[in-house]
Amino acid sequence: MKTIFVTGGAGFIGSALIRLLMAETDWHVVNIDKLTYAGNLESLTSVMDNPRYQFSRTDICDRVALDTLFDHYQPAGVIHLAAESHVDRSIHGPGDFIATNISGTYTLLEAVRGYWSSLEHAAKSTFRFHHVSTDEVYGSLGNTGFFTETTPYQPNSPYSASKAASDHLVRAWHHTYGLPVVTTNCSNNYGPCQFPEKLIPLMILNALSEKPLPIYGKGDNVRDWLYVDDHARALRLVFERGLPGETYNIGGHNEMTNLQVVDTLCTLLDELKPRHDGRSYREQKISVADRPGHDKRYAIDAGKIERELDWKPLETFESGIRKTVLWYLDNQSWVANVQSGEYRDWVVKHYGKP
Ligand code: NAD
Ligand code: DAU
Repeated sequence: MKTIFVTGGAGFIGSALIRLLMAETDWHVVNIDKLTYAGNLESLTSVMDNPRYQFSRTDICDRVALDTLFDHYQPAGVIHLAAESHVDRSIHGPGDFIATNISGTYTLLEAVRGYWSSLEHAAKSTFRFHHVSTDEVYGSLGNTGFFTETTPYQPNSPYSASKAASDHLVRAWHHTYGLPVVTTNCSNNYGPCQFPEKLIPLMILNALSEKPLPIYGKGDNVRDWLYVDDHARALRLVFERGLPGETYNIGGHNEMTNLQVVDTLCTLLDELKPRHDGRSYREQKISVADRPGHDKRYAIDAGKIERELDWKPLETFESGIRKTVLWYLDNQSWVANVQSGEYRDWVVKHYGKP
């Protein structure tokens, strides 16, 4: 039974990954998370009492705390998801993105290198540092083509630039120090427990609260949507079987314009939770100013991970989006605590600081 570290495990994708690892492996998992506004331990209530799960409220920029954790737990690997992840926030205030995504990844890499160097030969060769990144590092596509693992980096937002920088650091730590790293670059995720600043949960919750559904620009930007559990399965596969130094793109072959996504959500809500006045949620759509530097289209060629690791998404967009809407309808207490900010009060109560 091995122990691994997951950074950012209280976030949207990290919590899905930890739920999957608890259900499908016998590993011990230590969740290392600072609990920013995006970290929510309520997303992990199903695993909280599992003796194989531990939580440490730690900032990945804190080298001393990281060294203590490595020394104490002696992990067999790290899956690194901790990041500032929202593009709009990065436009309004890039500082936290530089601190966590770049300096934090650097600090973590140095802590990992120190620990890894001290391991004996067998443990050293099986150790993995898995860096979880995004398709946004490749920039924006025109109407055709796909991002592959060899597409040149062309990040356009402070968020994607900070993720690109972290990818380069991880690559360099492999090339220069021989650290056994794997990197994954994934497309847009959706599913349960996503913070309602991102398109899909924002639209579901605004619709139900009778608020406007704000569509940036013409709504014709295209994203390639993947159900979060499919991403979590891919992460486990790459962590276990990916080759050191390699990069794997992960995507759903599921391109849609933002308008198509919002219309799909409205149709589902019209069926599952009709408005009191019998009208369609589509009437709540409004056009708002475009996001500055808004990338036009993302689309992933996931051929490498499909061929080499036999991964394929299990959910279609139709099945995954229905599950997602039902989850938000059925989990009123998670939603209410996020909307009221009560999950932050819990953090203050337990840790004494916000
Ligand atoms: P999220 O914002 O939901 O969660 C991020 C988590 O990281 C939170 O729990 C937060 O508390 C934690 N965190 C932030 N700063 C930290 C720090 N300094 N120290 C420790 N913990 C810290 O993000 P997400 O959507 O789950 O994304 C997870 C990772 O996957 C990110 O690296 C992101 O770039 C990448 N990614 C996300 C998507 C997507 O569609 N959401 C797609 C591809 C890749
Ligand atoms: O591609 C992977 C990336 O996907 C991840 O790396 C990021 O962490 C994740 O946030 C996501 O980035 P996007 O910017 O694509 O996601 P977001 O949900 O913020 O927006 C999706 C699209 O919807 C985008 O074209 C902007 C648009 N949008 C978004 C919001 C929040 C709207 O039209 N209205 C909105 O209110």
